[in-house]
Amino acid sequence: MAKLRLEGKVAIITGAASGIGEAAARLFAEHGARVVITDIQDELGAAVAASIGADRCKYYRCDVRDEQQVSYLVDFTVATFGRLDVMYSNAGIICRGSLLQMNLEDFDNVVAVNTRGCVAAVKHAGRAMAAAGTRGSIICTASVAATVGGMGLHAYTVSKHAVLGLVRSAAGELGHLGIRVNCVSPAGMATPLALGFSGRTAEQAEAEWEAMSALKRGAMKAGDVSAAALFLASDEAAFVSGHNLVVDGAMTAIGPKPPGFDLQ
Ligand SMILES: NC(=O)c1ccc[n+]([C@@H]2O[C@H](COP(=O)([O-])OP(=O)(O)OC[C@H]3O[C@@H](n4cnc5c(N)ncnc54)[C@H](O)[C@@H]3O)[C@@H](O)[C@H]2O)c1
Repeated sequence: MAKLRLEGKVAIITGAASGIGEAAARLFAEHGARVVITDIQDELGAAVAASIGADRCKYYRCDVRDEQQVSYLVDFTVATFGRLDVMYSNAGIICRGSLLQMNLEDFDNVVAVNTRGCVAAVKHAGRAMAAAGTRGSIICTASVAATVGGMGLHAYTVSKHAVLGLVRSAAGELGHLGIRVNCVSPAGMATPLALGFSGRTAEQAEAEWEAMSALKRGAMKAGDVSAAALFLASDEAAFVSGHNLVVDGAMTAIGPKPPGFDLQ
């Protein structure tokens, strides 16, 4: 049997009722972790936890916009499973809107979930890990929209650039405690977040993203991102910190093709 890469570890995953977070919850549990999954979609989250198994996975409601709830989530995890080794801050939302007509309350809400939620997760996971002397791993889901403009909508792009700044900044302070802080940056995948605002079917969206990708291996799936998060969570990544692990089939590395490129 293959080695379990998270044996004995305890992980929190935010935004784990669906998409990348759900895939990560299943993969981390398969690799021996005990996992607390959190979301604001209670029925879905509880169903995911039950399907993984009550001995290995608990659902705990937490709105990541509320720091107190994030603090309680961390305390619940330590009280339930005895420790915290991995915090995967993954919850995210998107909102439409031209910059010129932007409703700044919508902007604040996107930043509250995508950026402030990650700050609260890093802060409270770091607090618990520091108190216990745990050399833990903190991972955030950023995006290809964290490094380039035009890959996401405005508020989303701003919020994800800030996540990358958080990861680089936090890796310094928490590094002194032996705690690693990294992010994964996916390109487009057919999850409720990506499909919800566009009106496209999963098949249409995947065909578009496949056409944009330099790497021809079919459509990217949530499991491709959770596999990258598993690496960052595991001891295999013992000296990886402050890193942005881009999972995009080289989309951001290659960029747009100049005219005539296909003739080479
Ligand atoms: N799908 C993509 O194309 C894509 C690309 C790049 C990055 N991402 C990022 O991946 C992460 C996961 O998204 P996904 O694609 O799996 O979408 P998803 O919609 O399947 O999952 C996001 C989850 O976050 C939860 N959530 C939203 N607001 C919350 C809050 N205030 N508190 C707690 N949970 C909350 C949702 O209920 C949902 O279950 C997000 O951070 C997203 O920005 C997604």
